[in-house]
Amino acid sequence: MYTEKVMEHFQNPRNVGEIEHADGSGTVGNPVCGDIMKMTIKVEDDRIKDIKFKTFGCGAAIATSSMVTEMARGRTIAEALEITNRMVADLLGGLPPNKMHCSNLAADALHKAIEDYRSKQSGK
Ligand code: FES
Repeated sequence: MYTEKVMEHFQNPRNVGEIEHADGSGTVGNPVCGDIMKMTIKVEDDRIKDIKFKTFGCGAAIATSSMVTEMARGRTIAEALEITNRMVADLLGGLPPNKMHCSNLAADALHKAIEDYRSKQSGK
């Protein structure tokens, strides 16, 4: 039911945790299951220098978040905003249809963290 890639990220999730003094942070809840995801980012020269996630989500949420952190690291802010839930699920080789909603958390939390970063910047 899960691809090998999903299982691999679930068993060895990358970038778990929370960045202290993050430049941006985004927390989102999943309306379907009530699970929660938090992403924190560190930005340098308009690039995502570091990114970490914490979740109360399921295995699919863990795998998609792990994948999103790998995709976003090193990208510019504009490039990171282009990461969609669908891209993440595709890179993982797909998710079971009833688990697609889990993939929304990761990209949404990333986008929210970027919004937070931008609003902090404009407030400076
Ligand atoms: Fe809630 Fe997957 S069941 S994130």
